[in-house]
Amino acid sequence: MGPRVVVVDGSVGLALAGADHVGELLAETPASSVVVPTGRTPIGVYEELAARRRAGVLNTSQLTVVQLDEYLGLEPGDGRSLFRWMDLMFLEPLAIDPARVLALPADGDTEGGLAFDRALEDRGGLDLAILGLGANGHLGFNEPPTAADAGTRAVDLRPETLEANASYWGDGVDVPRRAVTIGMRQLLAARQILLLVAGASKHAIVHAAIEGPVSPDVPASFLQVAADRVTVIVDRAAWEGEA
Ligand code: PGA
Repeated sequence: MGPRVVVVDGSVGLALAGADHVGELLAETPASSVVVPTGRTPIGVYEELAARRRAGVLNTSQLTVVQLDEYLGLEPGDGRSLFRWMDLMFLEPLAIDPARVLALPADGDTEGGLAFDRALEDRGGLDLAILGLGANGHLGFNEPPTAADAGTRAVDLRPETLEANASYWGDGVDVPRRAVTIGMRQLLAARQILLLVAGASKHAIVHAAIEGPVSPDVPASFLQVAADRVTVIVDRAAWEGEA
């Protein structure tokens, strides 16, 4: 049996379904550890969660946020930092105490990745990994090819990822070429995984990930191995492939 797939209508449908999923987890287990991705896809979910917190129906006071990925080689204060993005879009609007954030080591050394994985394990692992889907099948910056047991580590970004990332800052922007990512092993070990997918440009890759061969060449295909813990919320454009 494959992962549970929930097809929704448009960005509002995605935001509501995604926020419901996270909200149910927090209602049941307020002290959850949750991976929070950057990217365009989750923005509506985060806005909906922030609105629910302001309305007093979502309690984030015990939530621990775990960073998914980060560029390497940035100067402090660089606007391209993914931590900064996460701070603006999630930590601040959801009033997350900085003491409850597990950030990735931004210096790229292997020891840092191992220490991060140990720290994650010491905290009892991940309750939920919210993930976006790269057009090349990456999860976080687990670029193809990635083995299912790859740990948290520094990686070289692939050309298609550099191109996608350049679109965030406009043409001609120098996009960081190296990054650090939580490993596939840590993501696949999460007690729940929520994959968010939007837009017709993700049509082929979402079907390849969920229904295609399980292969390091499509890192997201490893979600099939964890299918009983995976929910895919996908908008109709991505699922049906219409423009
Ligand atoms: P996106 O990024 O949400 O901006 O499409 C997803 C990803 O590359 O992981």
